[in-house]
Amino acid sequence: MSKIRVIIDTDPGIDDALALILALASPELSVEAITTVAGNVTVAQAVRNASLLLEVIDPHSRPPVAKGATRPMTRPLRTAEGYHGEDGLGELSRFKTEAGVLRYPEPQQRLASQSAPTLMTELISGAPGEMVVICIGPLTNLAMAIQAAPTEMAKVKEIVIMGGAIQAPGNVTPGAEFNLYTDPEAARLVFTSGLPITLVPLDVTQRVMLRAELIEAVVRHIGSRVTQFVRDVTERLFGIEQERAGCAAIPLHDPLAVGVVIDPSLVVRRPLHVDVETGAGSAQGMTIADRRQIREEWKQPPNLQVCMEVDAGRFMALFLERICRPLT
Ligand code: BDR
Ligand code: CA
Repeated sequence: MSKIRVIIDTDPGIDDALALILALASPELSVEAITTVAGNVTVAQAVRNASLLLEVIDPHSRPPVAKGATRPMTRPLRTAEGYHGEDGLGELSRFKTEAGVLRYPEPQQRLASQSAPTLMTELISGAPGEMVVICIGPLTNLAMAIQAAPTEMAKVKEIVIMGGAIQAPGNVTPGAEFNLYTDPEAARLVFTSGLPITLVPLDVTQRVMLRAELIEAVVRHIGSRVTQFVRDVTERLFGIEQERAGCAAIPLHDPLAVGVVIDPSLVVRRPLHVDVETGAGSAQGMTIADRRQIREEWKQPPNLQVCMEVDAGRFMALFLERICRPLT
């Protein structure tokens, strides 16, 4: 079976880190590059976190890490350290070994010579019809690549985006999801590009919940470096959710976008026309999906395949199996 070649565009981020682990532990995928973007954290921190993660996982073949956009296309950056922690990874410097040294020392940062949009474009145009881009942060890098090199980017096999809220409420404002809220101009450019896009919105990602007690049980049974990291990176967030919602559980937003590429049968997709609000008012970054039950020719043609249902049990089983397996 030939592997699916993927580029992961990310702003790590706790669930980004879990998504990268899932991707790198999955034999169906070949991760050809990790491109970083400002979002949950600054892009410098995103590069650092991606590098740290590669040191923790230590995959046999280490994908290049490229630095991308430092801020959204037209707006100032608004990061999310309140949720993801000061370092974006749940404040890992809290953890020390028995000898008192950092469990997660500062990683070596070996950066690709190209910027994230350039590396993305080169990989896609070098393998026409083969490369899948999985975007789990704001869409700034992808939009910049499409704007600069539309013909080369048209050779992409598929783009899978974690973002948006179709019927579900938003998670950063009442109406908007974080990745699209952060850079709505980039999202609109991508959504109107005509490229083959699958959207993985909050409607499905909030149905795949990782519970703290499950991770505790996993670490008790499989005490590997990866499972220990999964526990450490999520611990602070479980505490926040326990206090906020009375339940120590977090949504696996970004891992589900990877899961959809590993096993497309995990979700039911619906073709929809989706627009993004680019104003600066209370609707900033909202997705407007045309779900009207009228004749298709009266509407704008669908521009996205939107995941509207998920087999949550099967996805969670996949996720747990992959974080427990020895890396190949
Ligand atoms: C998205 O926002 C970020 O905080 C997460 O990493 C995920 O990509 C969910 O709205
Ligand atoms: Ca993310």
